[in-house]
Amino acid sequence: MCGIVGYIGEREPVNVLVSGLRKLEYRGYDSSGVAVVNAGHVQVVRAEGKLTALEEKLKNQKLSGTIGIGHTRWATHGIPSERNAHPHTVDGVCLVHNGIIENYIQLKAELSALGATFSSDTDSEVVAHLLAQELKKTPDIFKAIQKIIPRLEGAYAILAMWEKEPQRLVAFKNGPPLILGVGNGECVVGSDVQALLSYTDKVIYLDDGEVACIEKDKYVITDSLGKELNKAIVTVHWTSQAAEKHGFKHFMLKEIYEQPLAVSSVLKKYTDLKTYQVEFSSMFLSPAQNTVSRITEQDLKNVERIFIVACGTSYYSAMYAEYLIEKLAKIPVEVDFASEFRYRDPVIPPKSLVMVISQSGETADTLAVLRMAKNMGAPVLSLTNTLGSTIDREADLHLFMEAGVEIGVASTKAFISTLTVINLFSLYLARTRKYLSIDEEKQFVQNLLALPSHMESVLAHDKFFAEAAETFKNYKGFLYLGRGINYPIAMEGALKLKELAYKHAEGYAAGEMKHGPLALIDDKMMVIVINPQDNHYEKTLSNLQEAKARGGIIVSIGTGDDASLKSVSEHYLSIPKSDWMASGILSVIPVQLLAYHLADVLGYDVDQPRNLAKSVTVE
Ligand code: F6R
Repeated sequence: MCGIVGYIGEREPVNVLVSGLRKLEYRGYDSSGVAVVNAGHVQVVRAEGKLTALEEKLKNQKLSGTIGIGHTRWATHGIPSERNAHPHTVDGVCLVHNGIIENYIQLKAELSALGATFSSDTDSEVVAHLLAQELKKTPDIFKAIQKIIPRLEGAYAILAMWEKEPQRLVAFKNGPPLILGVGNGECVVGSDVQALLSYTDKVIYLDDGEVACIEKDKYVITDSLGKELNKAIVTVHWTSQAAEKHGFKHFMLKEIYEQPLAVSSVLKKYTDLKTYQVEFSSMFLSPAQNTVSRITEQDLKNVERIFIVACGTSYYSAMYAEYLIEKLAKIPVEVDFASEFRYRDPVIPPKSLVMVISQSGETADTLAVLRMAKNMGAPVLSLTNTLGSTIDREADLHLFMEAGVEIGVASTKAFISTLTVINLFSLYLARTRKYLSIDEEKQFVQNLLALPSHMESVLAHDKFFAEAAETFKNYKGFLYLGRGINYPIAMEGALKLKELAYKHAEGYAAGEMKHGPLALIDDKMMVIVINPQDNHYEKTLSNLQEAKARGGIIVSIGTGDDASLKSVSEHYLSIPKSDWMASGILSVIPVQLLAYHLADVLGYDVDQPRNLAKSVTVE
């Protein structure tokens, strides 16, 4: 969480910083700030609230110089406020920090005893004081930073500058990402490649323990022992994707509408459109590092168990994967939250594969699981939406969501893309284990190829929810029910509603409802039942009747013109007839639209829900 950006070169730094922060705002948006060194003095402007508040302030306070740093914050220590916003400045030293300094209380006590006075409640300011102290003894920012690093415990990505050395920017990290963009007579540093791409496509991914001393036309990178490194420059083959809403009211709505395209991109990447077979050879290559995996197709065939670990929405896609892989490829799968898995002394037997799913590729707990699994000798397969992210780079095998940039903090298209990759990957595993004939595989692939056009027709429910939201907003609670692959989709539906509309919502396995949650149901409870015509249909219908008999208001999602389901529901939403695998993906769209329109009608910030951030780089 938190986005950081830095610039050194001939452009006006503040312009580069603000436009970079705009691309990083998904990482946190409770306050922001920029600092520029001008004629030997640091000038800082900070503001509470979204980036627009900072931009307003900058209209009246012109900053000019040749070096600068900026930050957009997701609060960990200290409330969101201007005084806690970054950059933090102490005696001409100025820095921005993403992460948590775990020993800050001890350091703060030590620095206070030496006479330091603190002007924020953050852990980050402690680093600025520590650096200012060290610069008194070691008046060289690069060397001073190398001296203070051993004192820091926790996770950090930090960019620092000193008014006495206005030609140098120093970047160092342990945990959260930091990327150096090398331009022509200029350098840009950021938490995400997106913040650099307007200036250069040549980047260097800093690794943990490394320190970069950056000038406008040169840089030096050292390891944690101070040894100079010759790091590879990677050319990034992406373009800076403009954050444009293209006429949609919110990015989230635009991204919901982009889902057919996202699914098409996945199908294009992982299927052979001539043979209608899935094609996963790219998984063994790392495009970010230009390397071939040590894990072979044969190793993968020998896998006897798969652990899938993730957080939040990605965790629900992991649950979905468990159903698919076990059903199709007959490999036992265990799914867990990364924050639980990493601390429960898991047993990972030989011949296991650990799969980590993370849209950002930076989630701290998921990354920790990846590293733990590798230390235990298990191969790790990553599924990310961010090529070159830490999780992508450290994994042995690489899958990509192909969803493109997602700006809305609540995930939509990345989730649907993930489910599509999982469908295809399960077919791949099933085929390599000979549980699937070529004809069956072709049939599944052909059904999936029809998905984008089916999705277009489900998007028509947008109109229904836009109108119904006025009534729906009055319900006190929302219960989402589904069985089989529709159970994780019910969980995801409930999460979307919580995140966006701040309403109490629960996702439940439909058959579990009578074991407790049934007591919640009355005429103020809306029950959303996902019940396409699959082999769970009759049983879910009975569960729906149980909810209805207790007064629950039923919104059901079913296949085609399902008269029986319609007759027992207050509202019925139809998805096109398709096989069970594709229908799971189609059911996601109505639950996204429900959450979106409810939040919108309640007047909430759909793209940047309160208290959240898109990339969670703290535990
Ligand atoms: C919710 C959402 C989050 C993320 C979670 C993990 O809409 O997007 O629940 O899925 O924070 O993030 P990643 O997938 O980046 O590891």
